[in-house]
Amino acid sequence: MEELKQRILRDGRALNSEVLLVDSFLNHQVDPRLMQKIGMEFARRFREAGVTKIATIEASGIAPATMTALEMGVSMVILKKSVSSILSEGILQTEVFSFTKNKAYQLTLKSQFISPEDRVLLIDDFLANGEAAFGAIRLIERAGARIAGVGAVIAKAFQPGLEKLRKAGYAVEALAPVREMREGRILFADD
Ligand code: G4P
Repeated sequence: MEELKQRILRDGRALNSEVLLVDSFLNHQVDPRLMQKIGMEFARRFREAGVTKIATIEASGIAPATMTALEMGVSMVILKKSVSSILSEGILQTEVFSFTKNKAYQLTLKSQFISPEDRVLLIDDFLANGEAAFGAIRLIERAGARIAGVGAVIAKAFQPGLEKLRKAGYAVEALAPVREMREGRILFADD
């Protein structure tokens, strides 16, 4: 998605060869117009996938996932990273290890919000190692639903998540697939 890639080049910053800072428009301050266009682009790419629901992982996936859901005319479900004490019945959980944060958390879904008839499109801001995406997929499939696809706003193609998801047979779309970050330069895989 050209507009997104130009925005990353203009306002993003490669902190080092592994971490891309995009907090001025994606995951701290949010540009709603860009999010709207991201939602339209995901909706276009997954139009034929029979999507009945969008799922995302809190917190930074919520903005692009909401816009995608709005565009596709379906509901959006937030997979939680912690359990509220008032949530006890009918919850599904799986452990996810975050390499970035070097800690594990319990990804949580109230099963009533995803049913066996659903075809779920998973949307997230970053795809890195794929741990969060595979955790989300485990929960959604445990609820009996099928995965219609996985959409990442930014995928770091030099980390294993993108390849692992495709090898596992999931349809993955990355709007900005980053091939390499070197000496402050950001290079995209599809340029
Ligand atoms: P994985 O799920 O793909 O295996 O990745 P990992 O656990 O390593 O990533 C965990 C968190 O780090 C995620 O946010 C993800 O969005 C973020 N992240 C990964 N790579 C980058 C990067 O290059 N730049 C930035 N800015 N973030 C990155 P999170 O902890 O779930 O936080 P949030 O969604 O609550 O903001």
